[in-house]
Amino acid sequence: MIEDYPEAYRELCDRLGFDRGIPFTEKWSAGADFLQILVDQVRERKPQRILECSSGLTTLFMARACQLAGTGRVTSLENGPAFAQATRVALEGYGLEAWAEVLDAPLVETPLGDQCWQWYDLAALEAGAIDMLVIDGPPGFLQPLSRYPALPRLADCLAPGALILLDDAARPDEKAIVARWIAEYPGIERRWRATERGCVELRWPAQRP
Ligand SMILES: C[S@@+](CC[C@H](N)C(=O)[O-])C[C@H]1O[C@@H](n2cnc3c(N)ncnc32)[C@H](O)[C@@H]1O
Repeated sequence: MIEDYPEAYRELCDRLGFDRGIPFTEKWSAGADFLQILVDQVRERKPQRILECSSGLTTLFMARACQLAGTGRVTSLENGPAFAQATRVALEGYGLEAWAEVLDAPLVETPLGDQCWQWYDLAALEAGAIDMLVIDGPPGFLQPLSRYPALPRLADCLAPGALILLDDAARPDEKAIVARWIAEYPGIERRWRATERGCVELRWPAQRP
């Protein structure tokens, strides 16, 4: 029930017309302040192709932002079939299925350099430049630097100047991930966004680093 959500979510739901409930869980859903940043960025910058790692409220809110902007589409990679389905049901419930899709993307062995991660299978991802990348998965408990593969795996798909938003950036792992990305991809611009869990906004260079 909307009335039971924390106030920050209720206000955001009110503003975006989510009046019949959203798939919210206290521990796992993105914070209302991070969702607000996503919505603002989509409405201001009007990215055509948005890719996100992990589905849920982020998918629903960005889909609504695309609808309000009249442009853009979200593709969400989700490793958990039940979470993917819950997000699809929520999108359909609000008539947002034209603005977002959830791909079943199981976590697979992903070797990078001399290390190996469990990261999303990109087999179902269509080719095409990504203007905005949102990283809120895989869960941190799975492995050290769980979200690190996002840039090495997606670097070839990022449009010049693409916007990258990393949630939970106040955690030591995410700080280490950002430091590694900055070292490996010269020219990336970084901006700290002061949310409850921390958010780092990165700007992919105009020339492929
Ligand atoms: C931080 S959550 C992603 C949340 C999503 N971006 C949102 O805003 O709702 C990262 C991943 O954790 C998994 N997850 C979500 N809810 C969960 C739960 N209640 N228990 C365990 N894993 C969960 C899903 O696979 C999800 O993609």
